[in-house]
Amino acid sequence: MHGMITGVGMYVPEKVLTNKDLEKMVDTSDEWIVQRTGVRERRIVEDECTSDLAVEASKEALEEAGISPENVDAIIVATITPDTLMPATALHVQRKLGVKKDALAFDINAACSGFIYALSCADAFISAGMVKNCLVIGAETLSRFTDWQDRTTCVLFGDGAGAVVLQATDTDRGILASVLHADGDYADLMVIPGGGAKNPCSHQALKDRECFIKMKGQETFKMAVKHLVSVSKEALEKARMTFDDVDFVVCHQANLRILQSFARFARVPQEKVPVTLDIYGNTSGATIPLTLGFIRKKGLLKEGNIVLLNSFGASLTWAASVIRW
Ligand code: ACO
Repeated sequence: MHGMITGVGMYVPEKVLTNKDLEKMVDTSDEWIVQRTGVRERRIVEDECTSDLAVEASKEALEEAGISPENVDAIIVATITPDTLMPATALHVQRKLGVKKDALAFDINAACSGFIYALSCADAFISAGMVKNCLVIGAETLSRFTDWQDRTTCVLFGDGAGAVVLQATDTDRGILASVLHADGDYADLMVIPGGGAKNPCSHQALKDRECFIKMKGQETFKMAVKHLVSVSKEALEKARMTFDDVDFVVCHQANLRILQSFARFARVPQEKVPVTLDIYGNTSGATIPLTLGFIRKKGLLKEGNIVLLNSFGASLTWAASVIRW
């Protein structure tokens, strides 16, 4: 047995923050943001928290899969913006959705690669015979950890969630191969330095704006393209495929120039690489399921399609999965 995606859902908060809005907040311009990142607008939470977004996306995924919350055996939430440091956001989702009391539930912190890590864990649990029906979610409220005075990061991020139902199957559909990597030597490329055990929440940490995301953008950019191409090749080789076999590449949505460079280096036609960052920005662990939900709603995913997922995130994680839809 292995895992097969039987339902996909997505959810974004209502409030839209445009580049023009950001022009009034920091020294930036719509022109710079569009040219350097491809982002035009992003969604921002008002009263909602990460688990609220996750629950809405999950309801849609469960409906498509045709299963009720009482039949979910496992919830894995990929997030770097949990509702609370403890307990895990997955437990808030369990309570709010009414998932059965003895399900397993936990969060994964692998930044933008979190969803592929979570999907791969769920697939492994299914292959091991531990569970049959998993809810795998990527959900973020990055706006809560964004320094709205830092123009180098605040133009990039947004809030949103995507979810899939992964069910046991013995058919040739589903997850064909996954590859996960990490390198802790680059931990300072993207970091939230304050609020953890090393530098606990304090007046000084708040004053120094250390409870917000810090990123070395250019260095990260260079690593991103290299790793996205190599990890994709590795996953495709594991599935005995090449880029020519792929119908869609759902890439992590960090920067349009990264997606274009990936398509050029991998020799994949740009139209096979869907883009949602223009309207949702970088939603870290949520971008991949959000984009899957987005193209699903457009009726683009057909049974038998080969879908390659790939991602790159703090600091550093990178991953890819090959799926027969
Ligand atoms: N508006 C106007 N000017 C700006 C802005 C802004 N919002 N931000 C930076 N600049 C300026 C800089 O100060 C710099 O000015 P200078 O030349 O006078 O010093 C100039 O623009 C160029 O800055 P760079 O940082 O070199 O710009 P770059 O082209 O690299 O774009 C960006 C920055 C968009 C962050 C890009 O590097 C990027 O996308 N990096 C990858 C991000 C990524 O993949 N992150 C991984 C996932 S995130 C996660 O895991 C949570």
